[in-house]
Amino acid sequence: MTVPTVKLASGYDIPQLGFGVFLVPADEAERAVSEALEVGYRHIDTAAIYRNEEGVGAAIAKSGIPREELFVTTKLWNDRQSGEQPHDAIRESLDKLGLEYVDLYLTHWPTPQKDTYVNAWEKLIEIRDAGLSRSIGVSNHLPEHLDRLVAETGVVPSVDQIELHPALHQADVLAWAEANGMKIEAWGPLGQGKYPLFENPAVAAAAEAHGKSPAQIVIRWHLQRGFIVFPKSVRRERMEQNLDVFDFELTADEIAGIDAIDPGDGSGRVGSHPLEVN
Ligand SMILES: NC(=O)c1ccc[n+]([C@@H]2O[C@H](COP(=O)([O-])OP(=O)(O)OC[C@H]3O[C@@H](n4cnc5c(N)ncnc54)[C@H](OP(=O)(O)O)[C@@H]3O)[C@@H](O)[C@H]2O)c1
Repeated sequence: MTVPTVKLASGYDIPQLGFGVFLVPADEAERAVSEALEVGYRHIDTAAIYRNEEGVGAAIAKSGIPREELFVTTKLWNDRQSGEQPHDAIRESLDKLGLEYVDLYLTHWPTPQKDTYVNAWEKLIEIRDAGLSRSIGVSNHLPEHLDRLVAETGVVPSVDQIELHPALHQADVLAWAEANGMKIEAWGPLGQGKYPLFENPAVAAAAEAHGKSPAQIVIRWHLQRGFIVFPKSVRRERMEQNLDVFDFELTADEIAGIDAIDPGDGSGRVGSHPLEVN
């Protein structure tokens, strides 16, 4: 099984399917990430605020997998955006991960009321230039935030990691990405289990037709839409299942049926709205 890669604006390749560790407790992270690496994942998505970077790092160290075969993302938390703090934050994350560089470093939220996200982005550019992160990007940024980053620095983020799943398409961010050569990472790709995606008739019918689980159908929808995706599970059988999505293809009609799940009014959102996180 080979996971396809996506070329980022930085020139680096990112595996399109990875493993997310949000809400994986610190004392479970090493076990979960070790299993994910055994099962075949090579792309791990963590964040300082997940408080499990040490466990992720311990699993990487024990795996013996060459560093260049791994793609590791972490994120700058909201209270470290101002002044020179991002420089301290990346060094702390690298220490915890036991790595000399990460593959991708993201500003976690724009926190617009604080108005420090442009400063954070300027520091991420310096962090990239210092070789501490190969690529840099943002998370939860809306077109108005992205426009400002580019106007003030001239640097387009390699990715924007946003809540995205069949019930929330975020067409405005997708259009910005398409126009500016930025890739989209989908967080909460399974709706975090909070939106009834798996029971939806379009998902259920595709699952029946392909002999796959509803989760596999939703992951396949992301991949065929071109998104980078990293479903989270603490259970080995689901880690295996979520990676076993490269032996079938959804038809155009199935994709259209799953597209139609989005109510179109933003009510499919299961997480926080970027303007409300400060
Ligand atoms: N940038 C951001 O602000 C942000 C926010 C949220 C998430 N993220 C990133 O995105 C990653 C993925 O999102 P997420 O963890 O929030 O949600 P998710 O991947 O959409 O959903 C995870 C939930 O689905 C369950 N699940 C996983 N595989 C399943 C399967 N095959 N069948 C049935 N249920 C399954 C998991 O339960 P079990 O663990 O019990 O299997 C868990 O409850 C995160 O881990 C994190 O890396 C980023």
